[in-house]
Amino acid sequence: MINIPRGTQDILPSETPKWRYIEDKLHNIAASYNYKEIRTPIFESTDLFARGVGDTTDIVQKEMYTFKDKGDRSITLRPEGTAAVVRSYIENKMNGDANQPIKLYYNGPMFRYERKQKGRYRQFVQFGVEAIGAENPAMDAEVIHMVYSIYKSFGLKHIKIVLNSIGDMDSRNTYKEALVEHFEPHIENFCNDCKNRLHSNPMRILDCKVDRDQPSVKNAPKIIDYLNDYSLDYYNEVKRYLTLLEVPFVEDANLVRGLDYYTHTAFEVMSEAEGFGAITTLCGGGRYNGLLEMLDGPKETGIGFALSIERLLLAIEAEGVELDIDNGIDLFIVTMPETVEAGMKILAEVRNAGLKADIDYLNRKIKGQMKQADRIHAKNTIVLGSNELESGKVNIKTMNTGESKEIELKNIAAFIKGE
Ligand code: HAM
Repeated sequence: MINIPRGTQDILPSETPKWRYIEDKLHNIAASYNYKEIRTPIFESTDLFARGVGDTTDIVQKEMYTFKDKGDRSITLRPEGTAAVVRSYIENKMNGDANQPIKLYYNGPMFRYERKQKGRYRQFVQFGVEAIGAENPAMDAEVIHMVYSIYKSFGLKHIKIVLNSIGDMDSRNTYKEALVEHFEPHIENFCNDCKNRLHSNPMRILDCKVDRDQPSVKNAPKIIDYLNDYSLDYYNEVKRYLTLLEVPFVEDANLVRGLDYYTHTAFEVMSEAEGFGAITTLCGGGRYNGLLEMLDGPKETGIGFALSIERLLLAIEAEGVELDIDNGIDLFIVTMPETVEAGMKILAEVRNAGLKADIDYLNRKIKGQMKQADRIHAKNTIVLGSNELESGKVNIKTMNTGESKEIELKNIAAFIKGE
């Protein structure tokens, strides 16, 4: 038997209605903030991620599914959406559009070769947004407000929005120097990843899972003390807007995010639900002021976030939220051998009228067909015999009340629709 690849999952029919429900809701929320959907390829040139996400990041160093295609090009299955959306923005010259800022969202599979764990997959689905073309704290606040609305709309209560600013490139560079100086005397006590990061990406030492309890991590210099005036003002304005919009948040000076492109605003959403598991980050995002130029694009800036549907579902389960999903069908038609053809015709009519309906294909007895109707949560049933065909009338039984009503065969759809 051939098994499913490690770190992937089949989403079975018992689960897909939840996915559809969640994804529909996310599309609607994005639309209410006036974001337009974008779909980019599942694979891109490897260079895009090496340059865009950053070649010192875990994603690029360890987690990418990279292969050579038959034309000897290096191709990578996308590990995230931002770099691809920015590539498309540049390639399609969206900065020339009169309609600014460009507000985009996407929903699709991403691939990272990570150690499998609850809430961590090698293929997962990210819903994300990118707002490009407005360097304005109110823009940042809109994006974080959307994140908040999403989790609130699913009725999740044990959610924490964590916020930080990692400043502009100047502030970041001064801060990096301070970190290298701070960690250098202690680096022998750190994991190999951190040793390698010391000069290339010292900010990542701050959120290393292995070393996070080291005293020198706890008393490391804080980015807030290295923000220049512009960065500090920007951060204060973002916080002012969030307060205005009543978005609750906590600040964490060690939140640096794992991708290289961030500047200024950085945020994550954590689940605080009991029993959620070890991985508590539901969503991550931030501003990326240098990314477009890094990818040879115009001097525009952006902000966005991404969340995985897998982790959103885990949070929904951990908090015991019942999604309002209708799994049933509107009508089950019970037939006898002599009424199968008439049943098939009624079935087609009812379906044409937009209703969900089904019929028996296993030649079950009437009792077996009634059981089947129950199993698939049929809201109404009719039993079609030759008498019904002759009189043109049938008893329609509404399953939840047990009530029956005689109606004309041609009025079945109208009756169910309450017309
Ligand atoms: P990220 O923090 O790498 O950011 O991922 C965002 C979210 O994707 C995570 O918070 C988590 O919900 C989900 N996620 C990541 N890896 C996995 C995994 N292996 N299994 C399940 N879920 C996972 C980004 O990807 C940025 N592109 C976000 C962004 C958009 N920043 C600006 N715009």
